[in-house]
Amino acid sequence: MTIILITGATGFIGFHVLLAAVEAGYTVRYTVRSQEKALVVASNPAIQKLALGKNRLSSVLIPDFTLDGAFDTALEGVTHVIHAGSPVPNPAYNPTTDVFQPTLKISEGLLASALKAPTVKRVIITSSIVGNLPLGAPSAKVTSASSRVPLSDPIPSSFDNPFEAYIFGKIIELHNSDEFVKTRNPHFTISHVVPGYVFGRNELALDTAMMETQNSSNNFLMMSMRGGEPPYPLYNSFAHIDDVADVHLRVAFLESETEHKDFGITTKMDYNTIFNHLNKNFPEAVATGIFKMGKVVPLPINYDSSETEQLLGRKFKAFETAVLDVAKQYLEKAGNISA
Ligand SMILES: NC(=O)c1ccc[n+]([C@@H]2O[C@H](COP(=O)([O-])OP(=O)(O)OC[C@H]3O[C@@H](n4cnc5c(N)ncnc54)[C@H](OP(=O)(O)O)[C@@H]3O)[C@@H](O)[C@H]2O)c1
Repeated sequence: MTIILITGATGFIGFHVLLAAVEAGYTVRYTVRSQEKALVVASNPAIQKLALGKNRLSSVLIPDFTLDGAFDTALEGVTHVIHAGSPVPNPAYNPTTDVFQPTLKISEGLLASALKAPTVKRVIITSSIVGNLPLGAPSAKVTSASSRVPLSDPIPSSFDNPFEAYIFGKIIELHNSDEFVKTRNPHFTISHVVPGYVFGRNELALDTAMMETQNSSNNFLMMSMRGGEPPYPLYNSFAHIDDVADVHLRVAFLESETEHKDFGITTKMDYNTIFNHLNKNFPEAVATGIFKMGKVVPLPINYDSSETEQLLGRKFKAFETAVLDVAKQYLEKAGNISA
């Protein structure tokens, strides 16, 4: 029997993957840090609408994901693992203890537990394009999901800010997984799914305030749709959340010839088009000042994820679609249009 274990289901990507997995008919178990968080998932209107039985969707409580053996029980009987439960660079976080260390510890612990779980066939880890991109000033060099950033000696262990800690966490996690495959010869295969900034509808955001502040990377899109500016430059490349969920599942169920292969998801776009998309599709919301022209300082990037489009057999969704999906959700929550 196929059972998917999903970490990070209380977050933007993990929840969308979970929804896509149960909608596709899979049995899903998800890990949470508290019972309250389990309820956030179970009581979500998008889940409630599906009226799933307990045998289709269940949670497992792991108060601290970083402890040795934390995933041992959760992995019993599991065939596929999708690991999206890892910190993102919140400015309020301690760079080392809240971002860098858990990024590495959780992934290491999960792989170590999977070694003890004979049913596990595939482990998919959500990484980020920052784990592949060369350090320093933006480079014209083409990067892809198989690119690795050389590790400095010694490897840094303290950081100036959470974003720097996040980048090094993702870079080192990729190296650690490669090393794990080489040295531990696991009975399962590992692939990373590697998105750029992810934008699109987030069913976990239940009102307009949540959409603007508790919406992961969508917070940045919301800022620029509401006349603001994200606090730092953003790569001019994005991934639609629907593609991100689709790719996680497609990669999880790939046949063995692509074992241990990583898959990027990012498409170039222009943040200057956001306001045009809003003006064209929601002119009243622009006229009444709900949507205002904001600003994003773009960072150039040259990342090739064409192999993933080949895997999907189609082009990734357009930036306009992501902007309009988020705008529509915002207007629904604000009571301006019906769901
Ligand atoms: N969003 C993007 O643009 C983007 C782009 C590229 C890669 N990614 C990667 O995708 C993954 C998920 O991102 P997201 O956008 O879904 O972020 P998110 O909405 O902030 O969700 C993060 C998830 O990870 C869990 N988590 C965070 N720190 C944890 C810790 N120390 N111990 C246990 N669980 C922890 C959270 O659980 P709680 O609810 O318990 O806090 C939540 O379920 C991350 O690996 C991120 O690096 C995201």
